[in-house]
Amino acid sequence: MAAFFANLRNTVIAGLVLAVILFLIYLQLQGYDTNLFWRFVLRWLHVISGVMWIGLLWYFNFVSTPTMPKIPAEMKPALGRFITPAALFWFRWAAMATLVFGLLLAFLNDYLVQMLTIDASEGFVNPAYVNIGIGAWLAIIMWFNVWFVIWPNQQRALNIDNRYPDLPQPQRDASAKTAGMFSRINTMLSIPMLFAMVATAHLYGAI
Ligand code: HEM
Repeated sequence: MAAFFANLRNTVIAGLVLAVILFLIYLQLQGYDTNLFWRFVLRWLHVISGVMWIGLLWYFNFVSTPTMPKIPAEMKPALGRFITPAALFWFRWAAMATLVFGLLLAFLNDYLVQMLTIDASEGFVNPAYVNIGIGAWLAIIMWFNVWFVIWPNQQRALNIDNRYPDLPQPQRDASAKTAGMFSRINTMLSIPMLFAMVATAHLYGAI
């Protein structure tokens, strides 16, 4: 048992098997509806990757950054050299997966254009489209910040993959500051963004 759970891959596969069991229960109780089911699978993948992304964002902001000053100097390098680069890998690719699944979900839900234009593309206004449009744009801004501000600045600050071996310390510190500020901005945006994501189906009514 301990050996099984010591292996992350086994653990994830076991989680997927349990999800398949839930699918079989659904088949038994509800019957299969192709259109509904595949839109649901996308929604599920979207939420799973979103949890990975925002979970790591909150780990950086609620755990890692505030604990940093308490870590003894000789232990600090372990974070910058090993833990943060590994966390950043899952962080930025989870952000990418969330975006792709979110756009696909809107496409299958038949409101991709309405969402991206915040429903300015039609004569009448559908409040649910306005809401998911605002949520999606908040999340797209966050995705942009991850890939084009936080990640490049963290690469410089921590010399990830040894891409900036000769960068002077003041520039590393400046990059760390920029990455930290945009990480904070994303933490702020994550709160209204999640409000809008969940409100679409549960406050405005299913579309
Ligand atoms: C990156 C850009 C994103 C886009 C384009 C996007 C798009 C969407 C769409 C189209 C929906 C379906 C709304 C509906 O009809 O109910 C949705 C729902 C949702 N999204 Fe996002 N999303 C994005 C980012 C995120 C992020 C970062 C999270 C973080 C966890 C997230 C979490 C959710 C949740 C929890 C739902 C509600 C699921 C439900 O109520 O069934 N999304 N999103």
